[in-house]
Amino acid sequence: MSERSDKSSGPDVRVLPVDRWAAVVTDAWVERLSARPSLRMCLPTGSTPLPVYAEMRSRQVSWAAAEVLLLDEWVGLPPSEPGGCDATLRRELLDRVDLPPDRYRPIHADAPDLSAECGAVDAWLDGGLDLAILGVGVNGHLGMNEPGTPAENRTHLATLAASTIDSAAAYFGDRPRPAHGVTVGLTDLLAAREVWVLATGARKAEIVRESLHGEARPAVPASLLSGHPNCVWWLDEAAAVSGLPRH
Ligand code: GLP
Repeated sequence: MSERSDKSSGPDVRVLPVDRWAAVVTDAWVERLSARPSLRMCLPTGSTPLPVYAEMRSRQVSWAAAEVLLLDEWVGLPPSEPGGCDATLRRELLDRVDLPPDRYRPIHADAPDLSAECGAVDAWLDGGLDLAILGVGVNGHLGMNEPGTPAENRTHLATLAASTIDSAAAYFGDRPRPAHGVTVGLTDLLAAREVWVLATGARKAEIVRESLHGEARPAVPASLLSGHPNCVWWLDEAAAVSGLPRH
């Protein structure tokens, strides 16, 4: 079998060939949804999960009893912007599975009272998260929890790092890129019953190595997952190989 799984030395790291990565992650996701149809999930956007969402759209599993929270959203987007997190998650997944609309909680980053909106998202999170599916930024961010974000933070307005704004060219092209976002905080992500981190491609290899093998610290938010008892890193082979020496 070509999948490698290593839990003996800490986090559960699954390394998969790129052509099987999305199918294997989706197999595990379908298994979770089948075992617990009322699964409460927090879902990311970005480019990384899109092959998994494409795979999920073809699977015969019901989302009718599930609940979904959007992980993060950019602030200041025009309503027609297709690169927004809500627009992306609906287009790539939610509009194409049988999740009832009232079981999806987007983040309204255009709310006139953002602090009330953050509080309402926290109230949703108070019901518990069964599964937080996350990407990781090249700087180690989770959602829009940038380096240095206190682990105690709940849903909040975040100032985005320069590398996050640069990477956002993948979603916004030449259109204006936001400098702020609203994100679920680290405290709720770390409290999820299960956390999955999705990372593919060589550009993620260095931060994957740093997160898995470096010291756990707020400067690398993804490294804080080393203290989570039930966290799986789903990597393709390129993301699992770093040119830097392991330590
Ligand atoms: C973005 C988002 C994150 C996403 C991450 C990785 O800025 N805020 O939620 O997981 O960065 O994005 P990508 O998958 O496109 O590399």
